[in-house]
Parts: sequence; structure tokens; C-alpha cells
Amino acid sequence: MTQTIVDIRDLYVQYRTFDGQAKVLNGVNLTVKKGEKVSIVGETACGKTTTVKSILRILAPQASIPRGEILFNGSDVLKMGYSELNKLRSSGASMIFQDPTMSLNPVFTIGEQMEAVIRYSGQSGVEQKSVRHELAVKALEETAMPDPERILQSYPFQLSGGMRQRVCIALSLATPRDLVIADEPTTNLDVTIQDQVLKILKQRVEAKGCSLILITHSFGVARETTDRIYVMYAGNMVETAPTQELFREPLHPYSRALMSCIPRLSGGGMAEGIPGRLSNYHNPPKGCRFAPRCPEAMPRCHEEKPESIDVGREHQVACFLYDKDGGK
Ligand SMILES: Nc1ncnc2c1ncn2[C@@H]1O[C@H](COP(=O)(O)OP(=O)(O)OP(=O)(O)O)[C@@H](O)[C@H]1O
Ligand SMILES: [Mg+2]
Repeated sequence: MTQTIVDIRDLYVQYRTFDGQAKVLNGVNLTVKKGEKVSIVGETACGKTTTVKSILRILAPQASIPRGEILFNGSDVLKMGYSELNKLRSSGASMIFQDPTMSLNPVFTIGEQMEAVIRYSGQSGVEQKSVRHELAVKALEETAMPDPERILQSYPFQLSGGMRQRVCIALSLATPRDLVIADEPTTNLDVTIQDQVLKILKQRVEAKGCSLILITHSFGVARETTDRIYVMYAGNMVETAPTQELFREPLHPYSRALMSCIPRLSGGGMAEGIPGRLSNYHNPPKGCRFAPRCPEAMPRCHEEKPESIDVGREHQVACFLYDKDGGK
């Protein structure tokens, strides 16, 4: 059986705010196998970043986790001590953010930063400067960066946005990792560069055999890059399936609505978007959080939270429409 790298089970996360507790994650389940590329797709504020930040335990101090488990290679991240967490962040998983200036320090050269990351990875030989330098050059070359020696001597502000993001990809893959998390890595880049950066990310992840969690607003990007898609709505994974299977037959009314918002090249233009708004996290709906916006909601949907139902073909959906008891 393929090894499981990440297993998030029934995860609840809330944020303390002026108006009380915002109950954001509402029982999230997510699994990533070794070498698997997974994407999380959903509207803004549905909890995508919160989900992945919990894996590395880098949530804001206002956050708390009342319930759930996050297993990384079988160990519960929520129970890890300082040294285990350090190991997880330096050699287990790495994260690429939307804005590369957030992860690059403006006062150090790219070379200094890459060498620091390589040094703390604990690989053998990295105590020697020449080994660190060689690994940094190799990592930049692998992301198709021209003139790595010059890049290593540059400060982040001397590079373009696309180059900075490629440096971040090189950084996250310069040392062996089990998992790379990329949180909308191309949103800040122009369209032609977006495609190039995503291709490099996908190709590097595949070459290193590590797993990927990619966050994106775009089903198109998810389809191009990942093997499996998780559709997220208001703190829940409402549906997951292998990419082709999800496109063949999206089951959740939210997935279907979201997919119909993709502009069609064949004509037909843009659909109107999904009527209604994301639910309020301070006072979320009691049953299914999508029920207030769902065209197919039944009385039961407003009362009970639907659990995930396995419909075969590795396809799971959290919706009473697919429950054998139906709307009763
Ligand atoms: N530090 C915080 N304090 C209070 N609320 C927060 C905090 N961080 C996130 N939230 C809230 O949690 C919800 C989910 O946020 P999150 O950033 O996980 O969404 P997202 O799906 O990544 O959105 P986007 O696509 O815009 O990046 C939002 O309503 C947000 O306002
Ligand atoms: Mg986000």
C-alpha cells in the first residue's frame, strides 16, 4: 500500500476575534499519499490557507484547535514538541507562499538564504561551504534559472517576481522533502509566467518524488497540475476525487456551481457566479454550511451536518443527495 504522508482527520480550527470565536475549519479531512499531487480549490476565505498552515503549525496566535488530528508520516503534528516541529519544518515539509517577498529576507542575498536552508536540512556534507554552494547552484539550475552564480549574489529586490518565485521553488526543493505546500504560488505573476512557474513546480516535484498540496482558485490550474482535487467550502472539504473523475462527474452542488463559473472557450461565456455569500463563521449554519445557498437543499440539510459518503472510484462527497436515506 502506498505510504500516507499527510492525514488530517476531523480538524477544527477557530480564531479569537473582537466578535468572539470565528469557527473556521469545521471537521476537515484530507489525505496525501507519497508522491501524490493534490489541490485544494475553493472561494476566498473558505479556509484553504488555514488548513495548510495547520500542517506546519504556523497558524496565527489567535488560532486554536479544539479538535482533530494531523498525522505527518504517522506522527501527530499537534502533539509534537519543539525539536520534532523543527525537524518537520526543516526537512519534512516546505511551503511556498503567494507572495515570494514574504519568504525571502530582503537584507540577505539569495545565496546566503539558500545556504542557510541547506545547512539546517541536516544532510551529510552540508557543513562544508563548497557543498552548500554546489547544492544551491544545482537547485537553481533545476528550476531553469539562467546564470545561477549571478542569482546567488543578488538580493531579492534585484530579481523579477517570476524569478523570485522560482527561487522559492528552488529553496523548497534544494534539500530532500516529503511534502511541498504551494499556496497560490502564481497569483501575483502575469499569465505567461504563471504557466511557466507551475510547469516547473510540477516537474520538480515529480522529479524528486515528493508530494504536493497546491492551493488554487482555479479548476484549470488544478486540472493541469494535480492528480486529485479537494473542493472546499466554508471550512469543509465537500468533495474529493481523482482529477479526471471530478471533471467527469462533479457531484456536490457547490462543485457543480463552481465549475459552471469557469469561462468556456467554446462560447456560452461566464455563468453568473454562485448566488449568496459565504456563511458567517461566528454564527455558522447548523447543518450543511452550503445549505443557505444550495439550490437543492432539503429540510435535513439545515439541521444536520452531512458526513462524507464514498461513492466508489475514490470519489467522496459530503452531501445528503447521495445518502441512501436521502432527504429524510
Ligand atoms: N489570524 C486570523 N484572525 C482571525 N481570522 C482569521 C485569521 N486568519 C484567517 N482568518 C479567517 O479565517 C477564514 C479563512 O481564512 P483563510 O486565509 O484560511 O482562507 P483562504 O481560503 O486561504 O482564502 P484566500 O483564497 O483569500 O487566500 C477567513 O474568514 C479569515 O478572515
Ligand atoms: Mg489563502
